[in-house]
Amino acid sequence: MLERLRIPGLGGWGEDPLWASVYDWTVEHPQVGGLAWKVGIGSDLQRLYAAAAEIGRQSAGSSVLDVPCGGGVALRGLRPGQGVRYVAADISQGMLDRTTAEARRRQVSAQVEPVLADVGRLPFADGEFDLVVSFTGLHCFPDPHLAVREMARVLHPGGVLTGSALLNDAGLRYLPLRQTGRFTGLLGPGATSTEVSTWLAETGFQDIAITMSGAVGYFRGTKG
Ligand SMILES: C[S@@+](CC[C@H](N)C(=O)[O-])C[C@H]1O[C@@H](n2cnc3c(N)ncnc32)[C@H](O)[C@@H]1O
Repeated sequence: MLERLRIPGLGGWGEDPLWASVYDWTVEHPQVGGLAWKVGIGSDLQRLYAAAAEIGRQSAGSSVLDVPCGGGVALRGLRPGQGVRYVAADISQGMLDRTTAEARRRQVSAQVEPVLADVGRLPFADGEFDLVVSFTGLHCFPDPHLAVREMARVLHPGGVLTGSALLNDAGLRYLPLRQTGRFTGLLGPGATSTEVSTWLAETGFQDIAITMSGAVGYFRGTKG
């Protein structure tokens, strides 16, 4: 049986892997980072910015859940003084610390509530949120199907789930990337676009859309 690779600086999420810093840096630097996304995973970084912009369209008093928040890249969608409750959840305290620092940098700390949580068992009530965002997350979870069910549960009817993931049917070209991620313990089993679409439909989502951008699939649905 193959042992998991243990490469210094590329440990599990709880060890704040070097990979996370590199990833965050690429997202925050549209020109160089955008080129790295294009070359590395064939994906348009602007697509992530456009999806995160949905956060900025929430009205005052709305509740947003960002899971997994990671280093807080989705905070780019939150406006200072927007008046929303923004819950940033992640299984890693190191990642939550990064999000907290990023919230300070973006001057949105007053709206951001970091919560240590497993996406498979979210400590929130049914229908607590108006918007759930989950960027580059599903492929990291040990049970992505359960994660979709939990994200659907905490979403209010009429609310929106939007996110992205490395999808298993994105092409053989990206197989080495997914396999390396699994051996290092950073990635879970992942899912195909058909599986994500099916899981969203069975949990009551409507207007389901999945669009590919290289190795990454962007999904969106409205809870019925
Ligand atoms: C690739 S990062 C993405 C984070 C962020 N959304 C982004 O786009 O940068 C994946 C994150 O998933 C978190 N994670 C992994 N398994 C998790 C779980 N079971 N529950 C919650 N978060 C988890 C990791 O700690 C890490 O911060």
